[in-house]
Amino acid sequence: MRKKITLITGANGEIGQGLIKLLYKKGINNIVAFDLLPSNNEMQNMITDQIIGDILDSNLLESINEKYEITELYHLAALLSTKSELYPEKAHEVNVTGTINLLTLALKQGKLNNCPVKFFFPSSIAVYSIDKNNLNKITEEENNNPKTMYGCNKLYCENIGSYYSKKYSPYLIDFRCIRFPGIISPYTIPTGGTSDYLPEMLHSVIKNKPYKCFVKKNTRMPFMIMPDAVSAIYLLMNAQKNKLCYDIYNITSFNPSPEEFLNLLKEYVHDVNVSYQINDERQKMVDSWPSDINDSKAFEDWGWKPKYNLKDSFEIYLIPALEKFYNIKVN
Ligand code: SER
Repeated sequence: MRKKITLITGANGEIGQGLIKLLYKKGINNIVAFDLLPSNNEMQNMITDQIIGDILDSNLLESINEKYEITELYHLAALLSTKSELYPEKAHEVNVTGTINLLTLALKQGKLNNCPVKFFFPSSIAVYSIDKNNLNKITEEENNNPKTMYGCNKLYCENIGSYYSKKYSPYLIDFRCIRFPGIISPYTIPTGGTSDYLPEMLHSVIKNKPYKCFVKKNTRMPFMIMPDAVSAIYLLMNAQKNKLCYDIYNITSFNPSPEEFLNLLKEYVHDVNVSYQINDERQKMVDSWPSDINDSKAFEDWGWKPKYNLKDSFEIYLIPALEKFYNIKVN
């Protein structure tokens, strides 16, 4: 008999770790973590099994198909935007071929289980490109013309996920997708992303380290903190299917410029050493992304609403969590 599991790819990544903690807290005790490297000790206590390997390894995927009954699949493994720009072919392989591999696995499982597999796919505001003077809140349907490899990969995979979910009857995949803004976590620092400047600034300042911000101080794009990001995934994955009018939803919480974020940070840390050293390539990427997005469809269909605005994010969550994590007292 195959073991019933919840499979998470990219389990060691930022969202992966946050999501495992949340699912475990919600009582999900059949999580299998899939990543290139072993899970850390904290995560190992929350999972039932781990698969150490590559989502591009078809033999490995076949053995997973034979061994497990996957009921939910969270496919988080990906190369982020800055890294994807540096290694575009690799990005296409991991972000597109990897996703097709996992969708194919889900299709096979849907057939075997005689029940659709719930498939979560994290997309990104990188699927948009806009004129930065456009200050409108961009809806899901507008400006879907990405300028980056990562954005192209995400948009294509959104479409393929939707396509597969509609192609078969009875359906085999229940595809659900969120377009995330930048995400800020007190426990992990992202690697290879373009929205990394705010989390990097936060962690550096808290540790009293100098930080050179790689985008201009008035750059604006949407962000949120990790608890809201993983709660949104949980909410969407547990929404009734008949309430979901769309496969793909925007969500956001706030959109401070680096200068505004730093000003808020200065309310907690008085000695800061932040300067600006602009990376033109990364600036160009953020400049092609919307300053704000419209997430009303997520609110209407599955009740999405951020719990934390920017001020509360600092006050209630980030500062206390960082103090605990680094074992320091912020003045
Ligand atoms: N935060 C991601 C990145 O910067 C975009 O979704 O790559």
